[in-house]
Amino acid sequence: MNEIKKGMNEEEIENYVKEVLEHMSLKEKVYQMIGNGLILKVLKDRGVGRRVYDGAGSKKFKIPSFKFTDGPRGVVIPGSTCFPVSIARGASWDVNLEQNIGNVIGKEVRAHGGNLFGGVCINLLRHPSWGRAQETYGEDPFLIGEFGAALTRGVQKHNVMATAKHFAANSIETARFKVNVKIDERTLREVYLPHFKRCVEEGCVTIMTAYNKVRGEYCGHNKYLLRNILKSDWNFQGFVHSDWMRGVKSTMGGITGGLDVEMPRAKYYKYRKVKKALQQGNISQAMIDEAAGRVMRTILHYVTKEDPQTYEPALIGCEEHCKIALEAAEKSMVLLKNEQNILPLNKNKIKRMAIFGRLAIIKNTGDHGSSNVSTKYVITPLKGIQNYLGDSIQILYNEGSDKESVKSVAKEVDAAILIVGLDHKDEGEFIRELKIGGDRENLSLHDNEIELIKLVASENQNCVVVLIGGSAIIMEEWKDQVPVILMAWYSGMEGGNALARIIFGDVNPGGKLPFTIPKDPNHLPFFDKDADEIEYGYYHGYTLFEKSGFEPAFAFGFGLTYTSFNYNNLQVDVNDEKVLASVEVKNTGKTAGDEIIQLYIGFEQSQIDRPVKLLKGFTRVHLEPNENKHVMIEVSKENLAWYNPNSKSWEVEQITYTLYMGGSSRAKDLLSTQFTL
Ligand code: GLC
Repeated sequence: MNEIKKGMNEEEIENYVKEVLEHMSLKEKVYQMIGNGLILKVLKDRGVGRRVYDGAGSKKFKIPSFKFTDGPRGVVIPGSTCFPVSIARGASWDVNLEQNIGNVIGKEVRAHGGNLFGGVCINLLRHPSWGRAQETYGEDPFLIGEFGAALTRGVQKHNVMATAKHFAANSIETARFKVNVKIDERTLREVYLPHFKRCVEEGCVTIMTAYNKVRGEYCGHNKYLLRNILKSDWNFQGFVHSDWMRGVKSTMGGITGGLDVEMPRAKYYKYRKVKKALQQGNISQAMIDEAAGRVMRTILHYVTKEDPQTYEPALIGCEEHCKIALEAAEKSMVLLKNEQNILPLNKNKIKRMAIFGRLAIIKNTGDHGSSNVSTKYVITPLKGIQNYLGDSIQILYNEGSDKESVKSVAKEVDAAILIVGLDHKDEGEFIRELKIGGDRENLSLHDNEIELIKLVASENQNCVVVLIGGSAIIMEEWKDQVPVILMAWYSGMEGGNALARIIFGDVNPGGKLPFTIPKDPNHLPFFDKDADEIEYGYYHGYTLFEKSGFEPAFAFGFGLTYTSFNYNNLQVDVNDEKVLASVEVKNTGKTAGDEIIQLYIGFEQSQIDRPVKLLKGFTRVHLEPNENKHVMIEVSKENLAWYNPNSKSWEVEQITYTLYMGGSSRAKDLLSTQFTL
């Protein structure tokens, strides 16, 4: 046998794996197809992720194990850096930042002794009730794909295998173990899969299957998804592993379906069950060799790469990483309303301010499921404001349940900040054993918090509502009674410091919504948290609102700033492969700030049923006051294609398209022009 050494190339790895497969017993091959997490340890660790989970590997043949860790809020092992949740990072629209976060996570996975990161969670946010909305990047496949690809790049740079999950169409949480998703081919290919394809094209080397069914077959057994689309159409060369504990339902189903590894331990992929299935002819030796080969090839590919650096434990949760968590929190918060420019508050004109709400003092970084990071510290909203102000301004804290005290405090202060919204009891991963998580029952705020808002707003005109949560919150009952609304998300370990710096203007908010916030829940697609079966339609989010003519409360891509930006001179040019668009953007205000320029393509002249427009490009730029930038965005023509289920191929219509560029998906924020293919 050749030696395994750093710097092995693909051919050497291929030859090594081939030789190993010729010498391995069936038992040794099957061992490559399973995790070896101890079930009691796994149960005890649910939601707190105490360590890495091993799988596969062979001492005899010198194949290292894979060592799985969870994400995406950070590495789910105590002490790690805790970032804002993915949906918040989606609101930053800053893929360079996301790649940097991937860098940090990659380093910390390695420093923890891991080599497989299960945190590129890219399921589509179809409906705000979805309990795990916080773990994805938004409602649009293009945005999700660019972010998943960026996280993959950062993580895999440190020779950590990234996992894109949960493949596929996993957009209901409570019913996730049973629900069957009915979905037509265009909707599957054009809406629910493009972001996974984007990550595979970026080189993401592992895929985690979802628990749910698609078209009647469990994803862990779904030959059409795993063999036809993923491994054949997309030429995916890595390995597919199941979600945990219920991800596989039968030996034959999983192996013939194309599932390479059962996690976190063998139940249906136990050697005696696999051997029996082989003897009965229900599975083939070739399937075993393919699965074991994929796992060993992928592991070797990563463990034989030269490391770009060393990974000492001191990297875990280090100051430099915490600063990136602060940057992410600052760039993700979305200013939704700011009448009379009440924000930023002027700390020289304020003598006393009040902070209201139970959420102001709790460490609320998101749900308590598998993405929960037990980090070194969490700066709460109140602590962040106290850190910022020191004793320069008197800060009164009021939990908000005593009406009389709320009224008297609200009346006597110069500014009132309300910290309201959701926590892990309202939304999160559904873990039956721990009786936690699930989809949201209610899309509004809790009644007591709505009452608190109305009470404070009636007593103090300088009232700022700060929303904590991982998805859209319907605000119709109170939003017109308050002058300022800021979506702050589950903003990670540095969230309180970021909030204070935005409130007092050290940071100019630049985040934009990665999803639509409805006025009326009836404008949303059908959702049933306990569904046995559900149809996912072609339209949801802004494509549904624009197709149906519904007016949202706040539009996809919308967000205010402390300055103002002006767009002009939109130009478009077309060459053989690409559409090249450019626009001039000027900061017409007095404050430096970031603007997120969005590019949409309109299909008004399409010969088939298509959305009014789709996001096909974006970039975040920094502009000093009066600074003007010439911004260019390219769109590859293949990104204009639709999937023709009859020809089973992607087709680009030779029609006239509309090209939009601007600061949100709202018509009033967009310049437009046309081009013809
Ligand atoms: C869970 C989650 C998955 C996670 C896995 C391991 O069931 O669905 O996202 O990576 O278990 O904790």
